[in-house]
Amino acid sequence: MITIDSLTKSYGRQVVVDGVTLELPDSGVTSIIGANGAGKSTLLSMVSRVLGADAGVVTVDGLDVWNAPGRKIARRLSILRQETHTQARITVRELVEFGRYPHSRGRLTPECRAAVDEALAFCDLGELEHRSIHELSGGQRQRACVAMVLAQDTRYVLLDEPLNNLDLVHATALMRLVRRLADERGKSIVLVLHDINYASVYSDRIVAMRDGVVVRDGSPADVMTEDALSHIYGAPFVVHTLGEDRIAAYYR
Ligand SMILES: Nc1ncnc2c1ncn2[C@@H]1O[C@H](COP(=O)(O)OP(=O)(O)OP(=O)(O)O)[C@@H](O)[C@H]1O
Ligand SMILES: [Mg+2]
Repeated sequence: MITIDSLTKSYGRQVVVDGVTLELPDSGVTSIIGANGAGKSTLLSMVSRVLGADAGVVTVDGLDVWNAPGRKIARRLSILRQETHTQARITVRELVEFGRYPHSRGRLTPECRAAVDEALAFCDLGELEHRSIHELSGGQRQRACVAMVLAQDTRYVLLDEPLNNLDLVHATALMRLVRRLADERGKSIVLVLHDINYASVYSDRIVAMRDGVVVRDGSPADVMTEDALSHIYGAPFVVHTLGEDRIAAYYR
């Protein structure tokens, strides 16, 4: 389990994450939604130690993320950051191999190679594995970054807007993969999504942030209501039921 206790971050006078207390389970799919600037990336960056907190405590399986050895945390928790600047002249396969670093420290074992092969296949990168990262389209590069995170093979996988740049088919494939990793491998996947309908259909739980605080936390049925969504985004929504799914419309 990941525990987040009273986590706070300010920039100047603006409190962007305001005393968030949350538990993230050790399996399942949790989506974090909310408007631009709500504090979603700041929260995930602090949980993954990319960013220091002003106050609060985060533990991963009981380990305090600030005090535990970095490698120990990196074997449990991986993150895809919203901004990934990978201009290096390396191939897709080499990038994905970086994901194994916490396990291999640069010396790839047969197990590492198997994890890299699997991550490349999961992300439909077989034909691109020898291409240079800087020769890829935006969506292909995004998939390569996701594959690097998957190759790390951690129990907790944090994905900040993993669907960025992906076409509908690859976005759906990634969400199906996320579901499978939770169901078949028992992983805990935490994703930031702007497409609330993907959040609705594929998540066990949706956490909604607004102005640095968690304003809703529940099942898709709890959060995918016209009232809740209007409150979260400050805009009107219409929610339809399609089979077992709740689908929001917000085009007008
Ligand atoms: N380095 C920084 N310096 C100053 N303000 C920052 C910095 N990083 C983020 N902020 C501010 O903190 C707030 C939260 O930003 P954050 O990136 O967490 O939002 P978000 O919910 O991830 O939004 P988005 O959906 O646009 O990615 C925003 O108002 C942002 O302008
Ligand atoms: Mg963000």
